[in-house]
Amino acid sequence: MAIIGLPALLATGCNSNQAITNPATGPARDINTLWWAMLVGAVIIFGVVVGLLVVAFVRRNRDEGPSHDDRGPYMVIIGGGLAAPIVCLAILFGFVIHVMPATSAPPGPTKLTIDVIGHQWFWEVRYHGTPAVTANEIHIPAGTPVDVRVTTADVIHSFWVPRLNRKIDMIPGRVNRIELDAPDPGVYRGQCSEFCGVGHAQMAFFVIVQPPDQFRTWLRNEEAPAAQPSGSQATLGEHAFMTVGCQNCHEIRGTAAAGRVGPDLTHVGSRRTLAALTISNTPRSLYQWITDPQRIKPGARMPGFASLPASERHALVSYLEGLR
Ligand code: CUA
Repeated sequence: MAIIGLPALLATGCNSNQAITNPATGPARDINTLWWAMLVGAVIIFGVVVGLLVVAFVRRNRDEGPSHDDRGPYMVIIGGGLAAPIVCLAILFGFVIHVMPATSAPPGPTKLTIDVIGHQWFWEVRYHGTPAVTANEIHIPAGTPVDVRVTTADVIHSFWVPRLNRKIDMIPGRVNRIELDAPDPGVYRGQCSEFCGVGHAQMAFFVIVQPPDQFRTWLRNEEAPAAQPSGSQATLGEHAFMTVGCQNCHEIRGTAAAGRVGPDLTHVGSRRTLAALTISNTPRSLYQWITDPQRIKPGARMPGFASLPASERHALVSYLEGLR
């Protein structure tokens, strides 16, 4: 177990904003404590077992003659093989009995409910009671319990923001719930934690925790239909969007584009990242994404548009980046 724990420790250390060892909420702190208790316990047990093996190895040729007390081996078996595991597992069970309810969503409704729907390979985010839809960047208000209801549009995914709470599976035909209640504003990274196909590793998201008034401003903007394109370049881009096929897969509220295959792009220009955090949202990377998404995110459902004239691709970028 210790051998398994070490790479986990190294891996979580790679991005401290996605590490269970860097908790930002009460439930995450409980999980962190459980994790450390398990790691320390496993290291101690591993050390004892290796120590006994070494002793046995060193003494392997020693002829101690017939022993009159043959209870020794039985005591080792009863103590190390029966009593010690029962004690260790009972302590662990007690821990889990505490952590499970502490990390579960409360039965009653909370002030804010969000649907998160897993797709190969992005996260669709809907705010109850509003027309707001976004993708991959989940804004929530600080200090407010948020009921997150998760499901999937295709295969099983798993929603996990290690600094905020435990993971929760997204299962076809079923809605699971998890509560996010972050006291401090900040950006917390999440990641799909159930293998869901070739794009699994590039299925990440942010939970952006904002002061409540900033969150309300953001949500009001998100609810609104898309801005009209400003300037001839963006107008050209909108025309291209509606004619070359983009509108079949993407929705832009307030326009004729009503596709539901890919992310809602009504306010895509205001997002920090694209392709579920694979690239930052800049005109240059968006241009590359439109041109050849498979190079950036192999397996992505988005087809490339390298056959479009470059001027049309630049116009698309100008239109989309203007959707704030
Ligand atoms: Cu979605 Cu792994």
